[in-house]
Amino acid sequence: MNVETPVVEPALALDTPAETESPSVTPTDNMAFKKGIVVGADEADLIPGAIAKLRSLDEVAEMVKGCKRCPLYKTAKNPVPGEGDPHAQLVCVGEAPGAKEDETGRPFIGQAGQLLTKILAAVDLAREQVFIVNVLKHRPPSNRNPLPDEVEACSPYLIRQLELIKPKVIVAFGTFAAQTLLNTKTPLGQLRGLVHRYHGIPLIVTYHPAALLRNPAWKRPTWEDVKLARRILDSAPRS
Ligand code: URA
Repeated sequence: MNVETPVVEPALALDTPAETESPSVTPTDNMAFKKGIVVGADEADLIPGAIAKLRSLDEVAEMVKGCKRCPLYKTAKNPVPGEGDPHAQLVCVGEAPGAKEDETGRPFIGQAGQLLTKILAAVDLAREQVFIVNVLKHRPPSNRNPLPDEVEACSPYLIRQLELIKPKVIVAFGTFAAQTLLNTKTPLGQLRGLVHRYHGIPLIVTYHPAALLRNPAWKRPTWEDVKLARRILDSAPRS
């Protein structure tokens, strides 16, 4: 796929009803989407008291600023809590801040971030219309993979952000975000094309923009994935 000049839309093979039941009936349950993994309850889950009580995304960002729940704050230059429309209908979730993000405190602003902006534009979404966030809010040293303890410590922020934003759909970019959010080791290829649920919110999985920079052949499947997210948005009731 070339995200700048999208080619003719391929058919999406999404007409088979799922065998897995989701815990409650929502608009997407009645649609022809293949259902995937369900993580967390639809209502607020057990997240640590102080984080659960945060009333706005600004309050979450403020708490992330002073966060010492894992050691990453010691090596990072800046926290990267996330940014975008607080009422976004779509939330993009990446892995963790890289060097540029660490310098600036803003998510996805490097080369991968520029590609992310183009991917969103391919489905008529401006970067400012969505909310962009990472699983980890501080950069792991030398961009190493996040550790399980870091993910566990940081996840309540993401859960609270999603509770506050209440998006209609989440897109997990890359294997790490997808496997972490869905609590699975299933390869990304098998998680694509399904509508999973993360704390009640439909979740779509696709390639990480950084992977697309190395593997342009994955741009077309990525476009198919974001179109699936777009279809979910378009079919969600207006709120
Ligand atoms: N990669 C990510 O997963 N997140 C960023 O913010 C930047 C690069």
